[in-house]
Amino acid sequence: MRTLAVVGGGVIGLSAAWRAAGAGFTVTLFDPAVGSGASWVAGGMLAPLSEGWPGEDEALAFGAASLARWPGFAAELKAISGTDVFVADETLTVALDAADAADLRTIADWVNARGHELRVLDRAGVRAAEPNLGRGVRAGLLASTEPAVDNRALVDALRIACGAAGVEFRAERVAALADLPHDRVVLATGAAAAQLWPGLPIRPVKGEILRLRRRPSAPTPPRRVIRARVHGRPIYIVPRHDGIVLGATQYEVGFDTAVTVAGVRDLVTDAESVLPGLGEYEFAEAIAGHRPGTPDNLPLIGHLDDRVIVAAGHGRNGILDTPVTADAVLALLTDTELPEAAPAHPRRFPESSVAASLYPGGVR
Ligand code: GLY
Repeated sequence: MRTLAVVGGGVIGLSAAWRAAGAGFTVTLFDPAVGSGASWVAGGMLAPLSEGWPGEDEALAFGAASLARWPGFAAELKAISGTDVFVADETLTVALDAADAADLRTIADWVNARGHELRVLDRAGVRAAEPNLGRGVRAGLLASTEPAVDNRALVDALRIACGAAGVEFRAERVAALADLPHDRVVLATGAAAAQLWPGLPIRPVKGEILRLRRRPSAPTPPRRVIRARVHGRPIYIVPRHDGIVLGATQYEVGFDTAVTVAGVRDLVTDAESVLPGLGEYEFAEAIAGHRPGTPDNLPLIGHLDDRVIVAAGHGRNGILDTPVTADAVLALLTDTELPEAAPAHPRRFPESSVAASLYPGGVR
């Protein structure tokens, strides 16, 4: 029986562990606090089309490959855990000024030319779709194939799935990959991955996010994910069964998880111009986490040497990218490669930045 250590218990590590256990590996997952990092903080959007931009073909294709896997992935999880993780079926990006409205048309033209479907809505179309949005909204971009999931329900469902598949959980921090006796290792510690593989081009990108609970006097949450840019700052509102998730700020300040007054103020102020009834909601939670950023905004999924596979660096898209990453890692563990994951191979970066001295031999 082959043994596998998965280091990191966010959605990427959990799903890789689940898949590997299902394929016959004896899997141990190491994390002092499973599911407590970026996977817990996240909003849960699955929006590769709405986030598309001319020239970013690889990111679009990679995200779309994962989006296509989501229905099957979620159905499998539901069968095992009893949890339906979906909280919305569609995404609507709205524009508050002429420049943003022009950008929506640019995105729609580019994405639709690549075989997907985004629909531009005028002011009346947006109002018909989401009557509670503010009067300043002048156009929208409807992605009818982009749902959202409850990231925390996803973490819980993946833990159950891992348990059912026989994954052993060890609440331990791994100090060095060389200490692990396992045949194979998957490094899935997100923004902290470079601490275990020095030189890996992954850095923390801080984000603050709010959870707001609906009170009886407050307007109902939007039915869809609502995305917008306000004063140049991107925001999103993701429905939940009891309210909304409102995100997110973005800063490059290292490993800092303080929630700042300015961050909360900007999120609330910007969101109120999109959803005016927001002030009636109960302020339930403010939390900050670290997106694992890479230089080209694509993750790193591939061999670092014959034993260690990295699956990290998913940036803003860790929840979206979970199913395709799990499939890609399983392919690598069984000595094949998933073609859709080719743009994520670590060898696209100079070998010096990914080949740690622990493992001479370098990137395979
Ligand atoms: N996934 C959304 C964000 O990173 O803010």
